[in-house]
Amino acid sequence: MATPLQRRRLMPDLRRSDDRQIVDLSRKPFAQALADAAAAAQWNIDFALTGLSGPIPDAMKYATAGGKGLRAFLAIESARLHGFDASRSGRAAAAIEALHAYSLVHDDLPCMDDDDLRRGQPTVHKKWDEATAVLAGDALQALAFQLVALVGCPLEARLTLTSTLAVAAGARGMVGGQAMDIAAETAKAPLNLDEITTLQAGKTGALIRWSAMVGPRMAGKSHDPLDVYGDCLGLAFQIADDILDIEGDATEVGKAVGKDADAGKATFVTLLGLQGAKNRAAELVAEACDRLSCYGEDADTLKEAAQFVIARRK
Ligand code: IPE
Ligand code: IPE
Ligand code: MG
Ligand code: MG
Ligand code: MG
Repeated sequence: MATPLQRRRLMPDLRRSDDRQIVDLSRKPFAQALADAAAAAQWNIDFALTGLSGPIPDAMKYATAGGKGLRAFLAIESARLHGFDASRSGRAAAAIEALHAYSLVHDDLPCMDDDDLRRGQPTVHKKWDEATAVLAGDALQALAFQLVALVGCPLEARLTLTSTLAVAAGARGMVGGQAMDIAAETAKAPLNLDEITTLQAGKTGALIRWSAMVGPRMAGKSHDPLDVYGDCLGLAFQIADDILDIEGDATEVGKAVGKDADAGKATFVTLLGLQGAKNRAAELVAEACDRLSCYGEDADTLKEAAQFVIARRK
């Protein structure tokens, strides 16, 4: 075990963490932009954990590896649209992926969805134990706030990014939605469309919307068409996740499928049926793309992302 002084010396200076990047504001095809964003987020997370060893940092790295990186992509791409390259937005991408990974680690716990498989690997509480999963999730959430406080934009914009991330993560956002999701399992009456929309907008939508608003917020804007784009995308994303739970193949999806109905989960599919849910997701994607018209062709990668969200098989 390192002494406190040794620990301070081992702590990386996160403000310098993106120096390796080259300024690149050109638009990339979606698949490449997604892969690059996932890699940038992972690099920043691993850098922040430099010098740490043991089950908690190991579980944190494990939990952040192997995701699609959609939220990182939205952060970096919306920042690019506002003139910030990935060396400036990379820590926002890392922050949201760390926060998302924490939400998944806790979502998989036996007291929540009780899942054994995530991203094709054993869940954190299966590979280690429940205490490690709780603590690694807690530490990932703390890491997210460390990273977002150091995004490459003016101080006031960083404060806005930090406070809005807190709202998106908390009782008005992801945690609030997760609580509704768990409560719906044992509710006496099924949720109506408004209630399901509120639930999904919290549990999944809030983090996705925050990701899409990274660019405008870095630029000091509080309103932008990306806000509605993020809202629509978040809902479409969760509808696609619920459809994959019915139509997907566990090996391909990388997590258990066919569990939502048994658990009594409230989803758009339970209310609208499979085809109705697909239609609703397609409408949401069309609306998301419409909203980006003011950005012209520069927003084409974000439009490709919207199509990907409902076409994806994992
Ligand atoms: C899964 O999110 C959980 C939901 C919010 C539906 P993703 O499908 O983005 O998971 P990863 O990060 O790619 O594994
Ligand atoms: C989880 O939703 C969303 C969060 C982790 C906030 P789900 O429970 O539907 O996600 P999966 O299907 O386990 O990935
Ligand atoms: Mg869940
Ligand atoms: Mg789950
Ligand atoms: Mg699901």
